[in-house]
Amino acid sequence: MDSERILPEIVERRAFRAFSAKKVDWEIAERIMEAARRAPSCANKQPARFLVCMEGDALISGRKALSGGNYWAKEAAFLVFALTKNELDCQLPDGREYAQFDTGLAVENMLLQAVHEGLICHPMAGFSPEILKKEFSIPDEYDPIAAVAFGYPGVGDYLNDKHRELEQAPQVRKPFEETIFLNKWVENAK
Ligand SMILES: Cc1cc2nc3c(=O)[nH]c(=O)nc-3n(C[C@H](O)[C@H](O)[C@H](O)COP(=O)(O)O)c2cc1C
Repeated sequence: MDSERILPEIVERRAFRAFSAKKVDWEIAERIMEAARRAPSCANKQPARFLVCMEGDALISGRKALSGGNYWAKEAAFLVFALTKNELDCQLPDGREYAQFDTGLAVENMLLQAVHEGLICHPMAGFSPEILKKEFSIPDEYDPIAAVAFGYPGVGDYLNDKHRELEQAPQVRKPFEETIFLNKWVENAK
């Protein structure tokens, strides 16, 4: 596979944890959020909502919602929480719902724009929706989907041994043929 022809932001993006203490200007964060806003969505319903925690009490409150295993994300320059609710997006008669899918598309746009800006970024499921909702008085019907930590790359001297090792580890993916089926469904698909 000629990975040199893959978009550099896709190739370079990794879920890194070693953040620098350097702040990120709002102009950069704003472009990342604009990238999210431009994502496609079912019937252009644009179901994703983003809570951007850049400074002060908002950042403190966002950090409170992170799970213990994501201690490193407290060092990030800013946090974004992506939320949605099913009613905001296509709900097809056969039961298919697209709010979470479309929110994921928007989150990936954020990640790629962040890499383009020279930042590292790390999506997380490890946070408490309850604490997040309480801290920011978010109405109960919203579903927090993912948190994302953003910042400049740093040395990560706060990382535990396992996480320090992962900063250097190669990216692991299932073999191409195990997930991509060309022209026919593979009978023994895992
Ligand atoms: C929806 C989602 C939730 C994730 N949650 C966490 C998390 O809570 N903590 C964490 O350290 N990494 C989390 N990750 C990062 C993944 O572990 C990481 O993307 C994966 O191991 C692949 O590594 P790579 O992104 O460097 O290719 C999450 C990623 C996604 C997409």
